[in-house]
Amino acid sequence: VTTGGTGPASRDVTPEATLDVVDRLVPGIPEAIRRESSKVTAKAMLTRGLAGIAGKTLIINLPGSPKAVSECMAVISPVLEHALETVTGQGGECARS
Ligand code: MTE
Repeated sequence: VTTGGTGPASRDVTPEATLDVVDRLVPGIPEAIRRESSKVTAKAMLTRGLAGIAGKTLIINLPGSPKAVSECMAVISPVLEHALETVTGQGGECARS
């Protein structure tokens, strides 16, 4: 999990750095983060954060403020365990659970 550098300022380059290292994107994670965060603050639309998979590592970009991190973690926490199981190949068959 990365924090910060997802905004529109020229110094904010975390999404670009993430794109450099991931093999595949997981769009649903930042989609959910922005959707749910938008219920808290309209400024949530400013985060350009991504999520993706590099090998067996799941990378998730979060905004930098502690408040935002807490709000975003609340969104992704319910699916993190299953996400990590599937990314690392330890998960069962989703359709059968
Ligand atoms: N998301 C949540 N849940 N709560 C927040 O307070 N702040 C926004 C947005 N996403 C915020 C949020 C703001 S003000 C900015 S500028 C962007 O995240 C980018 O933040 P960053 O540059 O620290 O990554």
